[in-house]
Amino acid sequence: MEHLLFVNGCVRGEKSRTLKLARRFLERYQAAHPDTEVTEVDVCAQRLSPQYPEVLAERDAVWNAGGLDQPMFAPARQFAAADKIVIAAPFWDLSFPAALKIYLERISVTDITFGYDADGNSVGLCKASKLLYITTRGGYYAGTPLDIATQHIKGLAVMYGIPCVHFLDAEGLDDVRNDKQALLEQAMERADALAEEF
Ligand SMILES: Cc1cc2nc3c(=O)[nH]c(=O)nc-3n(C[C@H](O)[C@H](O)[C@H](O)COP(=O)(O)O)c2cc1C
Repeated sequence: MEHLLFVNGCVRGEKSRTLKLARRFLERYQAAHPDTEVTEVDVCAQRLSPQYPEVLAERDAVWNAGGLDQPMFAPARQFAAADKIVIAAPFWDLSFPAALKIYLERISVTDITFGYDADGNSVGLCKASKLLYITTRGGYYAGTPLDIATQHIKGLAVMYGIPCVHFLDAEGLDDVRNDKQALLEQAMERADALAEEF
């Protein structure tokens, strides 16, 4: 059985257009890959706090005591063990919501999701062969230097050792000149095609 981890960073919950796009992808993916088990992590429901000094100090203490198997690191172990990963989040302020950033900081744990070789080079330790990042944007940023979210996810995939990264988006959803429903429907069709090959 294949394990797909769905990291849901869609702050507006079921009203989120990004989540609608992600749900469509996952529905089609499961239809095409019936032996896949999908586990969802809702980063807003977790209410993780930022790594304030005391949070980081506790994490360092547990890590330095060799506690990689402790509950604190369960999200990192879950992320590292997934066969495939789908992350969905809206485009916020050129990036993604802080709740997702906090989750990514929490799962970025040395010797679980990434590590260092004998020469001090960073090596990825995640099992996943593929990662898909799904987003929707109010304006148009794809392919521009202002799309920090895409750059960030690409960089993290390298750090985690995930060789293949896909992106699925819908843009211009807050542009008054656009038929938003039509744009979302076009993205849904791209989701269907990607679900077959992902
Ligand atoms: C806090 C916040 C920040 C946003 N920042 C941007 C932005 O920088 N650029 C942009 O094009 N759209 C921005 N938007 C618009 C969203 O990207 C757009 O409405 C998106 O479709 C929302 O996704 P959702 O329906 O999944 O919540 C922002 C929206 C919010 C609520």
